[in-house]
Amino acid sequence: MKLLFVTSELFPLIKTGGLGDVANSLPNALSKLGVDVRLVLPAYRVVLERVEDLHVLGWLTLTGGRDVRILEAKHPACSAPLWLVDEPAYFDRRGQPYTDETGNGWPDNPQRYTLFCEAAAALAVDGLELGWLADVVHANDWQTGLVPAFTALRPAPPRTLFTVHNLAYDCQLDFGTFQSLSLPAHWWSMDYGEFYGRLSMLKTGLVSSDSITTVSPRYAQEIRTAEFGYGYAAILETHAHKLTGILNGIDDTTWDPRHDPLLAMNYHAQSKIRAAKKQNREALLAALGATPDASAEGAPLVGSVGRLVYQKGIDLLLEAIPSLLANSTARFVLIGTGEPRLEKQLKDLSVSHPKRVFCYIGYSERLAHLLEAGCDIFAMPSRYEPCGLNQMYSLRYGTPPVVRATGGLADTVVDATPDNMARDLANGFVFAESDTAALEDAMMRAFELFERPRQWMKLMKNGMRADFGWRKSAHAYLEIYRAGLSQENARG
Ligand code: ADP
Ligand code: GLC
Repeated sequence: MKLLFVTSELFPLIKTGGLGDVANSLPNALSKLGVDVRLVLPAYRVVLERVEDLHVLGWLTLTGGRDVRILEAKHPACSAPLWLVDEPAYFDRRGQPYTDETGNGWPDNPQRYTLFCEAAAALAVDGLELGWLADVVHANDWQTGLVPAFTALRPAPPRTLFTVHNLAYDCQLDFGTFQSLSLPAHWWSMDYGEFYGRLSMLKTGLVSSDSITTVSPRYAQEIRTAEFGYGYAAILETHAHKLTGILNGIDDTTWDPRHDPLLAMNYHAQSKIRAAKKQNREALLAALGATPDASAEGAPLVGSVGRLVYQKGIDLLLEAIPSLLANSTARFVLIGTGEPRLEKQLKDLSVSHPKRVFCYIGYSERLAHLLEAGCDIFAMPSRYEPCGLNQMYSLRYGTPPVVRATGGLADTVVDATPDNMARDLANGFVFAESDTAALEDAMMRAFELFERPRQWMKLMKNGMRADFGWRKSAHAYLEIYRAGLSQENARG
């Protein structure tokens, strides 16, 4: 089977969040199952700086006679060849893929990603005449929303799958932009991509693809409701017959406490957990400039890493911290970047509690790994969470998570009720309401259990032993690719 996997980010080349991780680890898992994968990515400046064996694959002629160069490259972390859409005017830039250095969306995002999508669809149907024709095209999030629609314009198109990693982000074009891009007129219709007087790249992906998946079973249900649907609930309801939730896996090689090169000390479920936690904690706190504090020995260290945005409920955590400091001996370490208001609130907290609250405002893979290993508890009070990878990393690193019961968090974390503890099912703490009181309550339950070392060890080991690798989910994707193909064959 030939699969064209289209993505706007790819770890370790360029990443803003979990999509980058998944775009690396899912295709790698599919390659292992015998799928012949090609990865398509914009040729961002930083990508060109990091890849190997870069060479020209050919030129595509797109709408309006625009010629676009396609490069091919390799990277040791990716088993599939990389095909890079090289339009320097759009992708040879500093800053983030979707935002400039000040955090504002690039004003020409509609043009940038329309071009990317058209090029990807042309590659799928062997537009470069390489003798490689995709059976299935797998697109991800709004940046690739037009891929299924461009693919559908071709004679005998391959099957298309559109994965929603986060429904809250889309990209909308006004009518003038739509016209200036010479997009097909029938896309501007209520039954296609038109969305409240604009063209939504996300909606176009939902409507025009043969199948839709999202990244956890619970989120597949949630997005059909007004609360989580971000205006798209009714559309998803209409297309529910082609919507499936498949839980993300994690890259269990990169995120493996037994071999992780970024840790101060390695460990695994059978050995050295406590000693390694201590060394990693010391390395983490030292890296954050904390002065060693013998009096805090034995106090739980709570950590969190992620984008500092509304979705993650980080404001709830920041609000809860003062009273948690007053009612426990816990200390806190937070790593992230995001909304300036939240960054400031976090910095202020660490300044007013220099011995108990530590932060790093920025992006650091090393600190993220050290935090997973060095903390005792991981906080993830998300308002919504399509899947979430950090809670799975923390389970693997013996750092029970405290999470809100939503999306992939609800699908992966089992609350430490007495019953779940007795049945060896519990691996963390789950709360229902999205408010500070509920978070505080769950956190206090975690602190109480932390005081009982044998019970705590059981909890840690339940999480560490679970299998969050990709094997099962990669098979589920394969089934969807194949189901699509067999329907196609039956029809043909
Ligand atoms: P989302 O994709 O919504 O941001 P996920 O939990 O799926 O959430 O994935 C987030 C990924 O990004 C994880 O790999 C996490 O470790 C990483 N990450 C987020 N912020 C940072 C940061 N400031 N430093 C290092 N890694 C980060
Ligand atoms: C999105 C979601 C996150 C998910 C990730 C990878 O960024 O916010 O929950 O884990 O995509 O699918």
